[in-house]
Amino acid sequence: MTDQYAVIGHPISHSKSPKIHQAFAKQTGQSIEYRAIDIYPDDVAGQIQQLHDALKLKGLNVTVPYKETMWSLIDDLSERAQRAGAVNTVVINQNGHLFGDNTDGIGLCRDLLDNHQLQISGKRILLLGAGGASRGVIEPLLALNPDSLFIANRTAQKAVDLAHDFRDLGTINGGGWQDINGQFDLLINASAASLHGEVPPISPDIIADGAACYDLMYGDKDTAFVQWAKQHQVQQAFDGLGMLVEQAAEAFFVWRNVRPDSQAVIDMLRQKSAK
Ligand code: ATR
Repeated sequence: MTDQYAVIGHPISHSKSPKIHQAFAKQTGQSIEYRAIDIYPDDVAGQIQQLHDALKLKGLNVTVPYKETMWSLIDDLSERAQRAGAVNTVVINQNGHLFGDNTDGIGLCRDLLDNHQLQISGKRILLLGAGGASRGVIEPLLALNPDSLFIANRTAQKAVDLAHDFRDLGTINGGGWQDINGQFDLLINASAASLHGEVPPISPDIIADGAACYDLMYGDKDTAFVQWAKQHQVQQAFDGLGMLVEQAAEAFFVWRNVRPDSQAVIDMLRQKSAK
C-alpha cells in the first residue's frame, strides 16, 4: 500500500500542502499519498486515532489551530519542537507511536538565507507578535547569531515573557510597540494583525538602511505588512510562501530521508498565484 500522509487543520480546504508534497514526491520518485483533512475542535486526539486506524498514516503535518494541541498529544518530541512549544510534523510508527517535530523555524531560516540570500549574523532583528508563530521561530533565528532580537507585541507582557524563555540563547528582549528603540535590519511580522489586513502600529523610522521585511503570512496579493514595507521603500520585502515550502521540504526529509528541490516548487506556486 502507498504510504499515507495528511495535513490536519481547521479550516483546511485552502491548504497548499497537498500540492507541495505531491510535487516533492514526483520530483524525488517517492510513492506517497498526501491529503488535507479537516479536524473539528472537539476531541482532536480521538479524530487523529480514527484517521490513523482508517488510513494507517505514516505521518502528519499540523497547521492552525492545532500545533500546540498536537504538542501535548505527542509521545516523543524533537528538541526543536520541545522548545517551539508546537508541533507541525508528526512521524507515526507501526504501533501508533507519535514522534513530534517542528520544521517551521528551519523553514523560515532556509528561506531567509538560501532563497533570499540574506545575512542574519550580526543583524538587529525585530519580531512582531508574541504568539505561537513567534515562539516557533525564535530558537532557529538566535542560532544564526544576530546582534539582537527584540520582540514587540500588542500585549507587552507576553513579549517580555517570551523573550525571557529564550534568554539563554542570545541577546533577546521584549516589550510593547512603544518600547521599540533604534533601528532594525530585519523586521519579521509574526502577529496575527495580517489576518485582519492590519499592520502593527510601528514607525517607518525603525527601518535601517538596506533592511529587509518578512511576513510569515502569504497570500495571492501582497500582505498588508509587505505593502507597508514597499510603501516605505524597503527593497527586500517578502511574504511567507518560501517558508511554507521550506518547512514542507524539511518535513518531507524527516519522513522520507530525501531532500526535495524546494525552489522549483516555490516557482510553481508563484506562477499559479500570478494567474
Ligand atoms: P499564532 O499562533 O498565529 O501566533 P496566537 O498565538 O493567537 O496565534 O498569537 C497571535 C499574535 O498576534 C499575538 O501576538 C497577538 O497579540 P496579543 O498577544 O496582544 O493578543 C497578535 N495580534 C492578533 N491580532 C492583532 C492585531 N489586530 N494587531 C496586532 N497584533 C495582533
